[in-house]
Amino acid sequence: MIEHRLIERMVAVLDKQRATIEGGSPPDNDLLDQAADFMRVYADRCHHGKEEELLFAKLQTKPMSPEMVSAMDRLMADHVRSRELVSRMRDLNARSRGGDAASVSELVAVLGEIAKLYPDHIAREDKQFFPEAMRYLSKEESDAMLQQFNDFDRKLIHQKYRAVVEGAEKR
Ligand SMILES: [Fe+2]
Ligand SMILES: [Fe+2]
Repeated sequence: MIEHRLIERMVAVLDKQRATIEGGSPPDNDLLDQAADFMRVYADRCHHGKEEELLFAKLQTKPMSPEMVSAMDRLMADHVRSRELVSRMRDLNARSRGGDAASVSELVAVLGEIAKLYPDHIAREDKQFFPEAMRYLSKEESDAMLQQFNDFDRKLIHQKYRAVVEGAEKR
């Protein structure tokens, strides 16, 4: 939930950028590149990664209520959708940087969809899913999961920059 607070701030930046572009200003391509990196690495790999690979995976070993199962399915579908939207945002931003004016209206639409998806997704997790999920975990299990979250985060920067070097070597 602490991570949600930072993601919300970037989503607010994206919504502001949407309004600025709609008001007739050109897209801030550098800002959108940085935002795409944040959404890919922090929101998706780091945050959704811990949710899916640790929390959801653990809950799947528990006798979840049908409501919990469908809530979790919906959250995972949101993650897939957000990955698609961020990837489109990145592509459209690259096209806009290259002078493709036609990409701008699509970019506005994608930014609007991101700004709509995240607050709703985060509210469902914070207010319903996470409190309910804690009822399925013992104190030992939730303590162990916090440790796993820390280990996951610790490895992440090494994975990211190893991928950067490997990508650079191939160029
Ligand atoms: Fe999520
Ligand atoms: Fe989340």
